[in-house]
Amino acid sequence: MGEALIKGMLLSRSFSPEQLRASDKVPGRRKYISETYKIKVFKKNAEVVRNSDIIILAVKPQNLDEALKEVREGLTRDKLLISILAGITVGRLQGLLKRGARVIRTMPNAPALVQEGATVIYRGDKATEEDLQVAGRIFDSVGRTVVLQDESLMDAVTGLSGSGPAYVFIILEALSDGGVKMGLPREVATNLAVQTIAGAAKLARESRKHPGELKDMITSPGGTTIVGIKKLEEGGLRASLIEAVESATLRSKELSKGGKK
Ligand SMILES: NC(=O)c1ccc[n+]([C@@H]2O[C@H](COP(=O)([O-])OP(=O)(O)OC[C@H]3O[C@@H](n4cnc5c(N)ncnc54)[C@H](OP(=O)(O)O)[C@@H]3O)[C@@H](O)[C@H]2O)c1
Repeated sequence: MGEALIKGMLLSRSFSPEQLRASDKVPGRRKYISETYKIKVFKKNAEVVRNSDIIILAVKPQNLDEALKEVREGLTRDKLLISILAGITVGRLQGLLKRGARVIRTMPNAPALVQEGATVIYRGDKATEEDLQVAGRIFDSVGRTVVLQDESLMDAVTGLSGSGPAYVFIILEALSDGGVKMGLPREVATNLAVQTIAGAAKLARESRKHPGELKDMITSPGGTTIVGIKKLEEGGLRASLIEAVESATLRSKELSKGGKK
């Protein structure tokens, strides 16, 4: 995810290589990142913090304590910390930092890898309006952003857009399986399924029509689509997706309270 952000920020041309720095413990990764993106890569996290105004924290939640311990001293009030860690609250981050630390919490998702991410941004109480705008510029470079003012909704965001790409991959695979079952070669079936999902999403985004209205547009009386829809309803697709988001949200809440890993 850290690399996706570097790539997106540079591709968007909103940021230049001279403005970005990174750190990695692994020498091979340092070489790869600096050669691929022409940015400065340090050995130590503390060096990045010393040389930057905005720090994006992109480690796994289980590495949070060790990573912040290394940078705590350097994270003074003139710097902004942006976290992408799932399930880690602003309060928890501030508790590990010096008093008054400016923190913004975000929840991006995997399509950020291809600049089509969905990121929700939440501003901690010490961060400023300008900090929020900076975070918006960063995450706009890897997709689209939404600002939320209620941190407790971040678990629902994790359940929907964070985990959501995995649900869509399953739908995609199942559509392809359906095509194969009816005789299409696998490659053709998968290509058709991918373009169908991408195209339907684009139509929903650009037309701004209600999904139900779009569905009605292609469901003619006595036709093929309505028969397919009846099967989806019988199989409980709609309820399954609602429950998937609900369960993932509850799991995110559990994890952020330090529940069973
Ligand atoms: N992937 C997603 O879809 C997604 C979506 C939203 C949010 N997130 C959040 O993004 C964060 C990163 O996820 P990811 O999928 O990108 O995981 P990842 O590929 O494992 O990236 C984490 C990176 O942090 C490095 N690291 C570990 N300890 C470190 C330390 N003390 N200092 C500096 N670097 C350290 C790891 O290096 P080593 O491999 O050498 O340990 C690894 O390169 C997570 O907190 C996750 O909750 C991910």
